[in-house]
Amino acid sequence: MEYAIEISGLTKKFGDFIAVDHLDLKVYKGEIFGLLGPNGAGKTTTIRMLCGLMAPTEGSIKILGYNIPEQRNEAIRKIGYMAQRFSLYEDLTVYENMEFYGRLYGLKGSLLRERILKLLDFLELSEFKDRLAGKLSGGMKQRLALGVALIHNPSLLILDEPTAGVDPSLRRAFWNYFRSLNKEGTTILVTTHYMDEAENCDRIGLMSKGKLIAIGSPRELKRKAFGGDVIELKIKGDIDSLPLKILETRKENDITIVRAVLNDISKELPNIFNLLDSYNIKLISVEPINISLEEVFIKLLGEIP
Ligand SMILES: Nc1ncnc2c1ncn2[C@@H]1O[C@H](COP(=O)(O)OP(=O)(O)O)[C@@H](O)[C@H]1O
Ligand SMILES: [Mg+2]
Repeated sequence: MEYAIEISGLTKKFGDFIAVDHLDLKVYKGEIFGLLGPNGAGKTTTIRMLCGLMAPTEGSIKILGYNIPEQRNEAIRKIGYMAQRFSLYEDLTVYENMEFYGRLYGLKGSLLRERILKLLDFLELSEFKDRLAGKLSGGMKQRLALGVALIHNPSLLILDEPTAGVDPSLRRAFWNYFRSLNKEGTTILVTTHYMDEAENCDRIGLMSKGKLIAIGSPRELKRKAFGGDVIELKIKGDIDSLPLKILETRKENDITIVRAVLNDISKELPNIFNLLDSYNIKLISVEPINISLEEVFIKLLGEIP
């Protein structure tokens, strides 16, 4: 089985309102998959259905080979879930919270203890293990919530906006945790509305109004949005007749700065020199442009009817 998640025709209606609209999606085992989209796109509703917390109106879900909701109990043992608004027991300590959730999964004794200590170390919470959860800073609570989601060593981690409202240094730390968990084999499905974070994902699905409007690796989505690889040329001369797909141009004194699209940068870039030469255009510099995912999403979202 190569897929961790297989969703087909997944639909959720609230009355007449369609929050998730015939979603088809497959997430490979071993990947970090980012589900992105503006507020209200349907990310949380999708995740709640994946975790068997909400029944779909239509469609089918398989998680690690288990049918959801029918085999939810089997699946849930292999899923770590961090909700958008998670709940910790504020009057239990950090250690006790972990212990409580560990017991829910049937862990006990030295196995549970070792697991908790290892996770607290991993999440840099060891020195706070006896502090009441209610007395933790926001960032520590967020880390503890991740620890709780990891207590049973899940092979699939589902994270709903784990970094919402978190400061940049903790966001970086979180992504370091995710990457190291992923390296050890954990599949991760994560939602975020921070576009820069999405660069960390192997693949991204962009949701809007309950539908998946684009899916692919960051590079593939960038290529999809602009029809190829974007380069920036600085030139002297008249570019009007150039056979290039030009996105935009601007002038700085007698230099023209041109953004153009190449089908395949590695094949076509070498030919650019000859091309410009043959049009008597002086090339000052050329470089590939790393388009931000933010620009990509604005473009792709703008294209949907
Ligand atoms: N229980 C519910 N009843 C009615 N509408 C809901 C319910 N849950 C979510 N919605 C609506 O469904 C849409 C998708 O919500 P949600 O899945 O939370 O989006 P996201 O997580 O992408 O921000 C929103 O318009 C939201 O208001
Ligand atoms: Mg949400």
